[in-house]
Amino acid sequence: MDGNGRWARRRGLPRIEGHRRGINAAREIVRAAGDTDLRFLTLFAFSVENWQRPESEVNALMELLYHFLEEERHYLLENRVRLRCIGRIDELPAPVAKRTRSLIDETAGFTERTLVIALNYGSRTEVLDAVRSYCSAVIKGVEDPDQCDWERFSNHLYTSHDIPDPDLIIRTSGECRLSNFLLLQSAYSEIYLSPVLWPDFDREEFQKAIECYKSRERRFGKTGEQVSAPLPATAQIL
Ligand code: IPE
Ligand code: MG
Repeated sequence: MDGNGRWARRRGLPRIEGHRRGINAAREIVRAAGDTDLRFLTLFAFSVENWQRPESEVNALMELLYHFLEEERHYLLENRVRLRCIGRIDELPAPVAKRTRSLIDETAGFTERTLVIALNYGSRTEVLDAVRSYCSAVIKGVEDPDQCDWERFSNHLYTSHDIPDPDLIIRTSGECRLSNFLLLQSAYSEIYLSPVLWPDFDREEFQKAIECYKSRERRFGKTGEQVSAPLPATAQIL
């Protein structure tokens, strides 16, 4: 969800106003996804690198996140959407971490749709945490390194076994990079680059991305004759 700062700057507004409008866009896209057959939607809200921003901006982002979770609670419960978070939740300010955890618990029983929020997330941090988790499982005798394959190792990633690899990754604001987002899980993801700044990314833009995805041919290393493109089950936005 990139481009909040530029959106604000172009209007002579403070960056935080861009983030505020970005939250509105996030709410709209959560609802737009709810009107499709997407089962998983991931929003990259805050990266491990984002702590390097000015303290006032980080604090404002945390406050916005806190209110976003509060405001979305009703929607998630009413629409039976499960919330999952990927990232180091423990390192977030206590009220944000607490609200996140309680909403995860409250919605844990829903199975049809999942909203994943990447919060204090970074792919490399995730890999290190997974290696730590895998090694401790080896020490406990639960895992055997000789038996290690992708299936077993990937169970130690934040996405674990219940969040599938993304079919479609949308990046807004014209940037052409993955920025430490789901680097392992995106091995075969289709990538859609939108020039639109995140606060202006609406239902229509979202639909365009999905239409574009449908025109892609996914091969997973096979030949074109062996495969045909399925509809997207998951979309991730950064
Ligand atoms: C993305 O918008 C929002 C977050 C990282 C939370 P930016 O703040 O990165 O916007 P630009 O890139 O400065 O325009
Ligand atoms: Mg940016």
